[in-house]
Amino acid sequence: MPKQTILVTGGLGFIGSHTVVELINAGYAVVIIDDLSNSQLFILDNIRKLTGVRPAFHHLDMTDETLLGTFFQSGIAIDAVIHFAASKSVGESVKNPLKYFRNNLFSLINLLQCMQAASVSNIVFSSSATVYGNPDVLPITEQAAIKPALSAYGSTKQMGEDILQKTAAADNVNAIALRYFNPVGAHASALLGELPIGVPNNLMPFVTQTAAGKIEMLTLYGNDYNTPDGTCIRDYVHVVDLAKAHVKSCHRLLARQQKSRYEVFNVGTGNGLSVLEIIHAFEQHNKVNLHYKVGRRREGDTEAMYADVSLAQSELNWKAELGIEQMVTSAWQWQKQL
Ligand code: UD1
Repeated sequence: MPKQTILVTGGLGFIGSHTVVELINAGYAVVIIDDLSNSQLFILDNIRKLTGVRPAFHHLDMTDETLLGTFFQSGIAIDAVIHFAASKSVGESVKNPLKYFRNNLFSLINLLQCMQAASVSNIVFSSSATVYGNPDVLPITEQAAIKPALSAYGSTKQMGEDILQKTAAADNVNAIALRYFNPVGAHASALLGELPIGVPNNLMPFVTQTAAGKIEMLTLYGNDYNTPDGTCIRDYVHVVDLAKAHVKSCHRLLARQQKSRYEVFNVGTGNGLSVLEIIHAFEQHNKVNLHYKVGRRREGDTEAMYADVSLAQSELNWKAELGIEQMVTSAWQWQKQL
């Protein structure tokens, strides 16, 4: 039987590249689309080093309806799409909301139209726990209320889910949205990881760049929260585990195991860790000292968030396997080789 083919948009990015490797390891053929706006071509060679396969690569801007249409009409047989291609800096999206609405929504709408025209019906969508805003109850289940988004980035994830849900209800589309908690870490080989472009937005790149001396000091955004050590709590999930959740989602779509045309799953570990716990774990497991100071709270931050992951476990047969030690050591190995 020929291999089933998965189109991975944004497949050279942080989560995309790890997912490509796991898909190839699971026996799928992979085709990548990426516009290289937040990724680099050498990742393709590193994917080949890891898997022995250099996936077909198309340098393409997904907001370009004509180009994307030509790609889909080229006779390529695609069984499912994993759609990562999107802009993801929360801060930038607040300053330049139209860039985010344009890039993240045009690309999704174009993709769904092209899929429809080419009779491709399966899609996995990169969503985010950001859709929950400041949660009322912990751990957060998929039934939790969707709160008004605080950034254009957050809006595009909420709207993206809405677009998929309504398209799935009207058309022959089967969709799974994965709501990521806080993806961190890197491939154990140190061949894949998060590429730093400009000043980092998220905690782990700040931590690794501080350890590497690229940033003088880490600022801890507030230690007066109502948590055991006063710092915010998040559900950090290893990017390799996250990648495997996409592979399981493809299995589910292709095996027609969905309970409804549109499904949503939380992807986290189910465990909350504070900012100080992350800092201390990084220092302990990597045997380095981190310079940090306590600063003011960051606007828009939520006190505590962690997932109820029982639905992903029962329906996707997926569970995070890697712990905080693998997260902080792999992140540091990647930073060191950069
Ligand atoms: C952020 C985004 C979220 C997005 C996610 C992607 C905001 C408000 N939220 O989540 O929409 O989906 O990234 O990964 O931007 N921290 C510090 N010092 C730092 C950096 C972070 O103390 O230099 C703290 C933060 O206050 C937070 C924790 O570390 O408590 C994690 O922060 P971050 O990695 O930015 O993730 P989130 O804010 O959870």
